[in-house]
Amino acid sequence: MGTTADDFEFGRILGEGSYSTVMLAKHKTTQQEYAIKILDKGHLKRFEKLPTALAEKNTLVRLGAGHPGIVRLHWAFQDEWSLYFVLDLARNGELQTRISRMGSLSLACGRWYAAQIVDALGYMHSKGVIHRDLKPENLLLDDAYRIKITDFGTGKILDSGGERTKTFVGTAQYVSPELLEDSETSKSSDFWALGCIIYQMIAGRFAFQGLSEYLTWQKIKQLDYSFPEGFDEQAKDLVQKLLVRDPAQRLGAGPPGSGFDMQALRAHPFFGSINWATLWTDPVPPLE
Ligand code: ADE
Repeated sequence: MGTTADDFEFGRILGEGSYSTVMLAKHKTTQQEYAIKILDKGHLKRFEKLPTALAEKNTLVRLGAGHPGIVRLHWAFQDEWSLYFVLDLARNGELQTRISRMGSLSLACGRWYAAQIVDALGYMHSKGVIHRDLKPENLLLDDAYRIKITDFGTGKILDSGGERTKTFVGTAQYVSPELLEDSETSKSSDFWALGCIIYQMIAGRFAFQGLSEYLTWQKIKQLDYSFPEGFDEQAKDLVQKLLVRDPAQRLGAGPPGSGFDMQALRAHPFFGSINWATLWTDPVPPLE
């Protein structure tokens, strides 16, 4: 018999989504704690989200245990009512909560997190996975306050042929112009979101924010944003090279046909002080 819900003692609710609930759970025999994402089958069927749930599982399986910055799937099982994904527990919750509480992050911490996201994206993209909904709500913090990317429910596995894919997803403030204009995403859309996230970590507010979702989209399409006074110059240069309308021209996107050039991103002066070899073992600088 494989692993089932009976193998765990369930604790408090860690988070709730439209189609799922994430609960703290302790494996009874090993005492190891996990976050278990529970998806209600009836609900998934009713809203035709079964393929989405399966895509999420397939994406997590594909990413495997290969990177410390990505939430790992330990087991997946189901019973009559629910699907269960047993995931790494990230005890310190969402990065969004930290940014909201503190206003913004220290420059050292923002730089560190930007580097961790770059490193995790490099791995994810090398496995043919685009996240498509990167945002501070989907960046969890583990015991040591290191980033763990989660929520691959809107992720996309690129088949060997297709570099670009159609269908709308994403959260207003982080959506790329190409998604708004022709609903086409590529790995480069994750770099747009990265630019928005770096801006937000340092400025303490959204790069693009209108009074409605529609007005936010207008601002994105017009590249209508500005930096607050005192925004770090190197961070500014990096954000300006990520928030570029043409997806092929974004830093990290590389010239068409070359594959993707993460090296250009890593080599940006903003990351000059980052030691990429110890990024996941050195302590994270103080958040504020
Ligand atoms: N909320 C959603 N997913 C989580 C996880 N893996 N760990 C902690 N909290 C979460």
